[in-house]
Amino acid sequence: MKIAVAGTGYVGLVTGVCLAENGHFVTCVDIDNKKIALMKQGVSPIYEPGLDELMKKNIDKLNFTTNYKDAYKQADVIFIGVGTPEKQDGSANLGYVYGVAEQIAQSIEKDCIVVIKSTVPIGTNDKIESLIKNKLINNVRVAVVSNPEFLAQGTAIRDTLHASRIVIGAEESYAGEILKEVYKNFNAPILVTNRKSAEMIKYASNDFLALKISFINEIANLCEDIGANIEDVALGMGYDRRIGNRFLNAGIGYGGSCFPKDTKALHWLANFHDQELKTVKAAIDVNENQKLKLIKKSRKYFSSFNGLNVAILGLTFKPGTDDLREAPSLVNIPIMLEDGASIKAWDPVGVKNFKRIYPNEVMYCTSIEDTLKDADVCFIFTEWEEIKHFELSKYCDLMKKPLVIDGRNCYDLNSVKKANIIYDSIGRQRVVSLEPELV
Ligand code: UGA
Repeated sequence: MKIAVAGTGYVGLVTGVCLAENGHFVTCVDIDNKKIALMKQGVSPIYEPGLDELMKKNIDKLNFTTNYKDAYKQADVIFIGVGTPEKQDGSANLGYVYGVAEQIAQSIEKDCIVVIKSTVPIGTNDKIESLIKNKLINNVRVAVVSNPEFLAQGTAIRDTLHASRIVIGAEESYAGEILKEVYKNFNAPILVTNRKSAEMIKYASNDFLALKISFINEIANLCEDIGANIEDVALGMGYDRRIGNRFLNAGIGYGGSCFPKDTKALHWLANFHDQELKTVKAAIDVNENQKLKLIKKSRKYFSSFNGLNVAILGLTFKPGTDDLREAPSLVNIPIMLEDGASIKAWDPVGVKNFKRIYPNEVMYCTSIEDTLKDADVCFIFTEWEEIKHFELSKYCDLMKKPLVIDGRNCYDLNSVKKANIIYDSIGRQRVVSLEPELV
């Protein structure tokens, strides 16, 4: 099929490339000329493992352009995958989605299906269909279908090619059938429902996962106080298949462009309908507090960061991405800087983006060893494999004071006990294999 995709972020570009991999001819549209030039050479403007390779492999079925009219006019199916960032009041900003919808209305010259991949509040697909139908300049038949995305950054290709499910929200059955045809080579269960249910499946899924994380984080905080171990607790819970063992990793809270935004957007929507989603509100509140958990822990060891050498390992909101959106590092580092800390930071891919926000305030290192050298304390914000495999004895060898405050439980406590460090993590007992000297 001839497919156009609006937006070349994580959702749009990965969708386009995976559709090409499954035999479709795909034109990706973006407003940024520089990005288009890069993509034409098979280079992805975003960091996503495996994406460059898949783009290069399918380059003969992929086209990249800023000329939306050309891309949309003869397409059988047009996917919208542009951003829906959070507005000040927590609601979703739909300006980009509506902008593309208008361009589609003014460009299409044959019958087509418009597919909304972007995460949009319930009811938005209906509005987009009305907008397009009102602004059409040619006499063509168009239907809007909701087809939410469930990919996670870092595993986006696998999540798309081997999706857990494909949700199709269509009001007219012919439109649903065309989408089924688009996905006929994907080996995944397909659920066809109405548009509002499809939109809700997306929000409810993300908010449920966010709630699961906030729940385990609250239990973790209690575990610390009562002497239980959150990892064993999560393991024990996860054996129950009704609970499942995934998304039960306690830490310093969820970040990224999705959970924070989607929890707030659904909560906002419920309020708008005079309802309160108390569980979602709790997930949001717990997460905000959890992001500061390491700073609060550090108060046990020193009352101020003034004059301290602080080592930061991990800046991104999770491993496998260079994305900093809503990353705990962005909440914690400013507090430390304001308090007078001298900060060295390491991240395998996130430094470039972090530098845009803090070009001079932080010293960026290219190795974990350099970051730890002469540090008074080390904070771990992201569980990169390089950190998880870092030899524990080196903390003692390199740091002025081997105090490690780990927000992602990177190390097994038994190994830590042999390492001659002070190690404080989430939901587990503190290990002091060295006498702490308060600074
Ligand atoms: C999330 C969902 O997992 C995807 O299914 C969804 O499609 C996507 O949002 C979206 O709406 O576009 P993503 O934000 O890329 O994907 O990342 P996740 O892997 O879900 O992680 C989100 C945050 O939760 C990270 O900060 C991660 O560190 C944290 N997390 C995750 C935990 O703290 N504990 C866990 O057990 C799992």
